[in-house]
Amino acid sequence: SLMGQYSGMKQKERQVADYFDIEKCVIVAGNSDDEDKVLASFGLMVSESLRTILPDKENVIAVMGGTTMAAVAENMTVLDHKLSNNIFVPARGGIGESVGIQANSVSSTMAAKTGGTSRPLYVPERVSKETYQSLLQEPFVQQVLGLIDESTCVIHSIGRALHMAERRGMSEEEFVMLKESGAVGESFGYFFDKEGNVVYKIPRIGLQLDDLEKVPYILAVAGGAKKARAIKAYMKHAPKQTWLITDESAANEILKEE
Ligand code: F6P
Repeated sequence: SLMGQYSGMKQKERQVADYFDIEKCVIVAGNSDDEDKVLASFGLMVSESLRTILPDKENVIAVMGGTTMAAVAENMTVLDHKLSNNIFVPARGGIGESVGIQANSVSSTMAAKTGGTSRPLYVPERVSKETYQSLLQEPFVQQVLGLIDESTCVIHSIGRALHMAERRGMSEEEFVMLKESGAVGESFGYFFDKEGNVVYKIPRIGLQLDDLEKVPYILAVAGGAKKARAIKAYMKHAPKQTWLITDESAANEILKEE
């Protein structure tokens, strides 16, 4: 019955949340690896979650990039006024990824879809120390870094380590090092082994992993059976206040015995 399916899913959500010792898990039926509508429904889940958790004020929401985040942004909806007055900023600098999936694009699309505003952070992924230091002095950059520091909410995805290393054009040495250190998951430019230990970090400005602890609301959005290992790796590290928004196929893999 539909009721049975519903309560079965609620139970699974509880199991996953308990497994990672996090506040909440939201599971969408299906597999986002091969169903676009599952990916699209993450947008609605994010909108609903924000409506539930955000305080009724102008919030700064820091977001990451990636294909999941881009799909979330495209499918965000204003569910009430709480969602329509927020400032979206990229969580970390870095414009290494292709334009459509950069955090800058994600934040501006989210603002456009919800009636909020956004501020871009134009800092290249990899620059020399000198360039980096002088960029940091730019008032425009400092203003956005200030906003990131005040953010009440962070929305991000989780990726497979080697896949992300390739997409980011990391060097052969880094690749070998990631393999040897057993990296399986990536988020925020940090790489995690299967126990959730950080094994490597791409230095970038903006939000650092330690800063995440003090962010009141965090949404991690990632699905697909293929990503289950990566999700497990990162989520073992994730702050307790994190809500995981995922799909059934990833959840089933996560709950399987190792
Ligand atoms: O680069 C931002 C990011 O959110 C990473 O933190 C994550 O690993 C990756 O994108 C996920 O990308 P995708 O949604 O394309 O799998």
